[in-house]
Formats: sequence, structure tokens, C-alpha cells
Amino acid sequence: TNRTFTMIKPDAVANGHTGAILDDIIKGGFKVIALKYTRLSKDIAGQFYAVHSERPFYNDLVDFMSSGPIVAAILEKDNAVEDFRKLIGATDPSKAEPGTIRNKYAKSIDANAIHGSDSDENAQIEGSFFFTAFERF
Ligand code: GTP
Ligand code: MG
Repeated sequence: TNRTFTMIKPDAVANGHTGAILDDIIKGGFKVIALKYTRLSKDIAGQFYAVHSERPFYNDLVDFMSSGPIVAAILEKDNAVEDFRKLIGATDPSKAEPGTIRNKYAKSIDANAIHGSDSDENAQIEGSFFFTAFERF
């Protein structure tokens, strides 16, 4: 068993998809270890996406991620990182497989409904960024 980290992004929360997405995640075989409804300041969103700071869309990404409430979670499953990225689908929702979370709930490449960690190492870093040790034991 291992873990991944996810955020339901501001577009999906604002459009009322939080419950349906959590349901898809649980039905996909993931156990929710920690869960938080919160909002990111620009500063915190910038820190979270610091790895993308040289990409042309960085400022738009930070503005978008701080534009409204998000839901953050740590999830557990065998092969969690890879299986979760399959469950959410491609970054660009027009290329996401039918049935994936982005195919169902995302509108565009920037407002793409959900984040999933891209490695075990980043899952650990991102989970620790949002949750204290006692919240994720
Ligand atoms: P995350 O799970 O959110 O990390 O998505 P990802 O791993 O599928 O994509 P990546 O880490 O490469 O990019 C992070 C986020 O930046 C994406 O989820 C998009 O919201 C946004 N993004 C990526 N590429 C583009 C782009 O070309 N234009 C814009 N506006 N946003 C982009
Ligand atoms: Mg990524």
C-alpha cells in the first residue's frame, strides 16, 4: 500500500462537484487518510507549484488555484500515484479518457478539476505541505 495527494481545484468545488469526485475516488478503491476544505492564498499556491515557476502558465496557475476554495486529501491504495493519475485522466480534459474525473468534470487545461501527485516523493512532499504529522498518521 502507498499514498498519493490530491486537490479538488477551485473550478470543480465552485461547480458543485466535490461530493461526486470524492465518491469516484472512494469507488476507485482509494481510502481517504486526511481531508481538508480550505482556500490557498497566492503565496501558498505559489509555494505549492514552485516546481512550475519557470513555465509560461505559472502566474495563471497560481491565480487560478487561489481563486476559490479547494479540497485537499491524502489517499491510500496499492500503486496509489499511478492508479490515481489513471483515475483522473490527462491534464487536458479534451484528451482525458471517458469516465475519468477530468473527462467528466473539467472544462479546460487550466481549470482541470483535480490535481494528482506525479511521484511517490512528491506525494510525500505535497501531503506534508497541507497536513501536520498527527493529521496523516
Ligand atoms: P496536476 O495534477 O495539477 O499537477 O496536473 P498534471 O500533473 O497533469 O500537469 P502538470 O503538473 O504538468 O501541470 C500542472 C497544472 O498546470 C495542470 O494541472 C494545469 O492546470 C496547468 N497547466 C499545465 N499545462 C498548462 C498549459 O499549457 N496552460 C495552462 N494555462 N495551464 C497548464
Ligand atoms: Mg503535475
